[in-house]
Amino acid sequence: MRNDLSAGEAPVAAKLRDLVILGGGGHAAVVAESAARLGWRVVAIAASQTTLASVRNLGDPEGEGRARVEALVESGAQLHGAIGSPSVRARWVAQFGLAHFATIADPTATVSPSARVAAGVYIGAGAVVNARAELGSCAIVNTRAVIEHDCIVEAFAHVSPAAVLCGSVRVSEGAQVGAGAVVIPGRTIGARSIVGAGAVVVRDVPRGVTAAGVPARVLTSDASTLMDE
Ligand SMILES: CC(C)(COP(=O)(O)OP(=O)(O)OC[C@H]1O[C@@H](n2cnc3c(N)ncnc32)[C@H](O)[C@@H]1OP(=O)(O)O)[C@@H](O)C(=O)NCCC(=O)NCCS
Repeated sequence: MRNDLSAGEAPVAAKLRDLVILGGGGHAAVVAESAARLGWRVVAIAASQTTLASVRNLGDPEGEGRARVEALVESGAQLHGAIGSPSVRARWVAQFGLAHFATIADPTATVSPSARVAAGVYIGAGAVVNARAELGSCAIVNTRAVIEHDCIVEAFAHVSPAAVLCGSVRVSEGAQVGAGAVVIPGRTIGARSIVGAGAVVVRDVPRGVTAAGVPARVLTSDASTLMDE
């Protein structure tokens, strides 16, 4: 496979399926590799700090990198917001416009033909998005997560690795479901709430809280702990 992440590239004009990844941490590295497997050419990242030394960094997309990102968009590149924090991804979409954000579904993910997937979504390796599920804009369905039939994952929500949403679950806007958590059928996770790793959610989780444990109970009503990587 051609390595599209080689160092020193300084694209003059973006070509079809050129991609700029916003974010420079671990999740950005994962997205970059999925994108390369799909045939995208990752021309740059834009991040205030990065661990992706092999890709040209345009700088903070909300600071000095903004004009450079806009120039690549102008020449046809697509964007992908690759950071765990829902609020940061939402700010990037407000800044650059959702129309420029590409959905990246790793080729090893299984996505039902009856599922509806909005712009800017990431679906990780081995994830399953089953019949009639809906993924809102810039949602993340991370590595090996399972989104069962008729679930709704709203915009900017993040379902972490190996989490399982049983049928007809709703994960509201900007909510985060931790790694390995299970949400039983029909439950709702409120907007901006965080479900801890390994939790089993058997009751609806209100908005703006952190809940964890088996069964999950509310730990705090200040969902300020973001999963930024
Ligand atoms: C739930 C979570 C958000 C809480 O983080 P926090 O607010 O920093 O909480 P703390 O680490 O201070 O822990 C507070 C209490 O909750 C407990 N706790 C924390 N996480 C827990 C979890 N997942 N399940 C059960 N209890 C948990 C702690 O043991 C502690 O209990 P104590 O007060 O009796 O000692 C965090 O622990 C978590 O699980 N995050 C998910 C991470 C993840 O899945 N990331 C995926 C990224 S792709």
